[in-house]
Amino acid sequence: MLIPAFTFAAVPSSVLHADCVPVLCECGDDYRINIEDFEKKLPDVDAVIISHMRGHNSDMDAIMALCDAADVPLIEDAAHNLGTTWADRNIGKVGCFSFQSYKLLNAGEGGIMVTDDADLIARAIIMSGAYEHNWQKHPVLHGAFAKWQNKLPLYNLRLNTLSAALIRPQLDAIADRVKNGRRNHDHDAGILGRCQWIVVPNALLQENRAPDSIQFNLRGMTDIQVDDFTGQAATLV
Ligand SMILES: Cc1ncc(COP(=O)(O)O)c(C=O)c1O
Repeated sequence: MLIPAFTFAAVPSSVLHADCVPVLCECGDDYRINIEDFEKKLPDVDAVIISHMRGHNSDMDAIMALCDAADVPLIEDAAHNLGTTWADRNIGKVGCFSFQSYKLLNAGEGGIMVTDDADLIARAIIMSGAYEHNWQKHPVLHGAFAKWQNKLPLYNLRLNTLSAALIRPQLDAIADRVKNGRRNHDHDAGILGRCQWIVVPNALLQENRAPDSIQFNLRGMTDIQVDDFTGQAATLV
């Protein structure tokens, strides 16, 4: 399974958990997928997970076109970019969002998968642990659920009801949280970007980001200067 090399431990761990092998795709200085390396490695994988790390979205036009042409399924790990749009759209066939406590929506733990594919939804709900026909509580897609009943393992991976209750009232706050995060990020990026030693990667043309933090690269420094910078920065935390 192809995943970005700039990642977080949960991502390759999820691949191992699914009994697959993580294959790392190079990322550039702007933290995004290197499309050349992606194209090179795509023929040797069965699926792709794209994590938009820290809200820096990879070129989804190129990635989706390559995956479609190769008939390789694409999952977006949107743990870091809830609220982002790409060419004014929320994109992707399968998107996964985290509700862990550091994320834009905080339920303590848990998350959600979104897709418009009835079979994927039915399979995911059954496999999440819809014991004893509990999928019947969902008022939709009963045809798809019935098709998969008794054909899949049932893991105990449900979002618990308490977490779901915590998320519901936060949904109305998404737009403001995204707007504030973007404003704060762009304000700080404008100031940092004036420093000759600091490069803050720009947004891509198609992306409207939802940053919850800021990342930058140091330019023109020796290793000793970089260590000095990071050492001093650490004392400010
Ligand atoms: C990029 C990325 N993907 C996935 C996850 C996993 O999310 P969860 O902790 O909800 O499983 C995280 C967690 O922080 C993450 O940073």
